Parts: sequence; C-alpha cells; structure tokens
Amino acid sequence: MASRDRGNVFFRPELARSLADKILNVAVGSAAASGVFLAAPRRTGKSTFLREDLRPALESAGALVLYVDLWANPAANPGEVIVAAVRAALADRASVVQRLAKRAGLGRVTVGGAQFDLDRVGLRRDVSLADALAALSDDTGQIIVLIIDEAQHAITTQEGSEALFALKAARDELNGSAHHGLRLVCTGSNREKLAMLRNGKDQAFFGAPMVSFPPLGADFVSWFCAHVDLPFRLDTNEVMHLFQLAGHRPEVMYAAADVFRFDLSPDPVDGASRFAAEVRAQIEVMNSELMNVVHSLTPIQAAVLRVMAAAGADYAPFEAKTLEQYRRALRLAGVPESDVRADVPGVQAALTALQEKKLVWRAARGIYSVEEPALVEEMQKAGMLAGLK
Ligand SMILES: Nc1ncnc2c1ncn2[C@@H]1O[C@H](COP(=O)(O)OP(=O)(O)O)[C@@H](O)[C@H]1O
Ligand SMILES: [Mg+2]
Repeated sequence: MASRDRGNVFFRPELARSLADKILNVAVGSAAASGVFLAAPRRTGKSTFLREDLRPALESAGALVLYVDLWANPAANPGEVIVAAVRAALADRASVVQRLAKRAGLGRVTVGGAQFDLDRVGLRRDVSLADALAALSDDTGQIIVLIIDEAQHAITTQEGSEALFALKAARDELNGSAHHGLRLVCTGSNREKLAMLRNGKDQAFFGAPMVSFPPLGADFVSWFCAHVDLPFRLDTNEVMHLFQLAGHRPEVMYAAADVFRFDLSPDPVDGASRFAAEVRAQIEVMNSELMNVVHSLTPIQAAVLRVMAAAGADYAPFEAKTLEQYRRALRLAGVPESDVRADVPGVQAALTALQEKKLVWRAARGIYSVEEPALVEEMQKAGMLAGLK
C-alpha cells in the first residue's frame, strides 16, 4: 500500500490519547481487559485512525503494537494473517527467539547458528500464540496491544476462529501478574457482525465493550475546506451538511473536489453550489455502483440476496419456509413458472457466488448476512424487498 503524504491526513491526537488511555489502563473488574471493539461504517476513517493516530499514541504510552488488517488481502486466511503478524514481531527480536527456543526444549541455541524455526509458532503448533506473546512481553517488558482491523473476518474460517481463541488464552495469561499485559483492539464495519465475537459465552471476546467509533466531524470539515485548494471558497457549514449526506465518508468529498481541481475557467461562478451538486452526484454514483452489481446477478442469486436482506437476523438459508421465499422472489422478479426452482444445492451455489462477489458475509458457523448495510437500504428503496418478509 502506498504510504501517504503526512499532509493528506487530518490527525485526531486527542481522541487517540483518550482511547489509548482507556485501552492501556483497565479499571479493576472492567471487561475492557477482554478487548475493545470499535465499530463504524466502511470508508469513514477507522484504518486511517488506527495507523496514523492510535498506534503512535499507544506506542508513546509505552506499548508494543502489532497491527493486522484482515481485509487487506481477502484471499488470505485470517488465522494465518494473525499468526504471521505475531511471527513477524518475534523475528525482529533475536532475544525473544532465543527464549522460545529454550522453552521448546532446544537448549541453548545461538541465533544465527542452529535456528529456532518460527514456523513452530502458531495454531496447533508446539509454540502457541500465548507462549510467543508471553515471551515477547517478558523480553521487552512492554504491554502488547494487538489491533485487528476488520476483525469480523476472523470468524469466516475455522483457523480464524481458532486464532481468536488462542488470543483469548494469550490474553488471560499475559494479563496475569507474571507478565506485562495484552490488550486486543478489534475494529469492524458492522456492529452486528462484531457482536458475534462477543455475545456468546463461547465466544472469544465475551463481554468486551463495544465502542462507537466517532465519525469525522466539523473539525475535519474545517481542515478540508482550508486545504482543498479549489478555485472558489467553500463554506464550512454548508460542507458539513454535505459531509453528513455523504455518510461521513471523506472520499466522496475528495472525488467531488477532484472534478473542480483542473477547472481552468478563471472565475468560476457559483463554485460552492456546483460543488454541492457534485457531492450529491458522487453519492449517487457510489450507491448505484452497489446496485449495478446486484443487477448483474443470476435470478437465483438475486432471489437469495433479496430474501436474506428482507429477513435480516432471522435468515435461515435452507429451511423449507425460506426455500419457499426464494421461489416467491423468483416469481416476483418475473421468472417464468417453469424456471422457478430453489433447492438446497442451488441455494448453496448462489450463496458461494454472492460471497465471492463480496455481497454476502458468512461466519464459519453458517450464519449469513448482507455485507453492506447500505445495500439493504438501497434494495429497500428500489422496492426489491417488498413482499418478502
Ligand atoms: N483522518 C483522515 N484524514 C484524511 N483523510 C481521511 C482520514 N480518514 C479517512 N480518510 C480518507 O477516507 C478514506 C477511507 O478511510 P479508511 O481509514 O480506509 O476507512 P475505513 O477503515 O473506516 O474503511 C481514506 O482512504 C482517506 O482517503
Ligand atoms: Mg479499514
């Protein structure tokens, strides 16, 4: 990923400091030791905040920070991504590797000589994530903070779920008096999905507090207006209103501004209202991009998506009642009666295709939901969910 010019980031140091403080200094009896969940919609600045503000704030408070983004490479297994991040943190420190080698019964190993293979660290390997993180904590004397961005992807695979349980074990061990502590910070775009990581007693982060990540606000908008460098002035209050319409997504504003950046007409009349119209147009473009994908689906895929969207949390993909709903959706879509078919293998194939198109999210336990809440809204507006409840 290209590193961005510092000048392009609006920093939020106060928010970072107060959050870092809450993460590191857990009050007696607080479930925050289980980890903290930050939820906010996509493209509203979570990852930017984690990298540019929270990580440095945690580091300057003395923590050792590990960051993994489970969305960066959707093809990678989330469990392996987490393990790889821990291995990478170990690989940086020869003395920790030494410690692990001793524990693993390799006696005194000279680093650079007979090697301790980092492949031995992992899920169902001889050195667990808890052992590895404990060695890291003991060696550095630092509290470790593991940030998992888009954590809901962890439970889309078996290994990912196992990694979460391994981290829970690590957390329990490192938060004991013998070590220096482990905190987990998970973020995600979707509250409901994040909630699955904390709502059941069998879940790795049972009870961890869910914090609504505050969206960028008026101070960001002032910064944007001051730095956008357009041939006309923007009024902060008007732009704030547009930013709210845009769902607090900076990129909508950027895309609108780009349209005018190369506007070479010397004194553009009415720039501000043209800017406003452009923001509205960009919002339309983003929403219709989602809908274009929906319109490219096969009838059965579309039917499955519509029934899932209409059912919400009650969606049970293979129940007889649901199969009947798919048939109903097919009929409503004007599919001729002779082609109205919905059986378990057909639905299964449609679900897989929808997942590949990133329209649908599936937890390892077989729970499905529409990936983007905004898509459900768009489908609703387009009347695609009518009659399917
Ligand atoms: N603090 C910020 N300052 C400037 N631009 C930002 C900031 N936060 C987000 N953005 C813009 O919004 C885009 C989406 O932000 P990102 O952090 O990737 O969102 P999320 O992780 O919530 O999906 C970024 O690529 C960037 O262009
Ligand atoms: Mg992100």
